[in-house]
Amino acid sequence: MTEQQLQENSDIIIPKHIAIIMDGNGRWAQQRGKTRVVGHKNGVESVRAVVSTARKQGVKALTLFAFSSENWQRPEKEVTVLMDLFMFVLTREVKKLHKNNIRFQVIGDVSRFSDKLIKKITDAEKLTENNNDMVLSIAANYGGRWDITHAAKQLAQKVNDGELAIDDITEQSLDQQTSLAGLPELDLLIRTGGDFRISNFLLWQAAYAEFYFTEVLWPDFKEDEFLKAMACFDQRERRFGQTGEQVKSSK
Ligand code: IPE
Ligand code: IPE
Ligand code: MG
Repeated sequence: MTEQQLQENSDIIIPKHIAIIMDGNGRWAQQRGKTRVVGHKNGVESVRAVVSTARKQGVKALTLFAFSSENWQRPEKEVTVLMDLFMFVLTREVKKLHKNNIRFQVIGDVSRFSDKLIKKITDAEKLTENNNDMVLSIAANYGGRWDITHAAKQLAQKVNDGELAIDDITEQSLDQQTSLAGLPELDLLIRTGGDFRISNFLLWQAAYAEFYFTEVLWPDFKEDEFLKAMACFDQRERRFGQTGEQVKSSK
């Protein structure tokens, strides 16, 4: 399936849930003799492009990795700029998301953010809570290990309170406590920027996701690159433990 056919909206398999590790902003800027911050600012345009393309293509959930629990270790100035940028973009874009019937949520431990930013996030989540064209989840101060640990704690609390028996702890009940509970299974995980790692992103949710890695740096990842990734997904055979023959005969 070519990108051209996708653009023409041919009959291809559209992933229900796509997640992206948006990497390479710093290198993009450095290649141009600019400070890393310039890369982050230019990355915002790519976010707009993928959000709009995903919605147009009928993707039901899009999850973007914006700031990891490890990113606090960056120089203080860079962290401050990233927080300010998040605040600025949120202020500017929320109405548009709402107009486009997109539900917005932040996943991650937001308690470390400023009160002002927490309020902006809560307001945006509230405003868009009944929208149902697509769910946009922004992972901020997110870590896959944090997500699983947090879910385990919630279950432990229920056991402690006598609401749940230990035998009722199942993959499903743990899944329900994770931050993307209720959304379709993750189908496609994209990483830009040329590295082949997951960097503590959706460890639990990526169990059977298809992975797509590209050298393209995040600020250069626009609609055409996104459609390329989706076209590549369409060509994958997902076997979920079965043999190729079994999959073909069940089609
Ligand atoms: C991704 O780009 C954005 C964040 C992690 C916030 P980077 O800032 O990691 O860019 P590189 O990997 O240094 O090029
Ligand atoms: C992962 O990128 C986090 C985000 C894209 C937000 P990093 O650039 O922080 O990943 P590592 O540290 O190089 O693995
Ligand atoms: Mg990076």
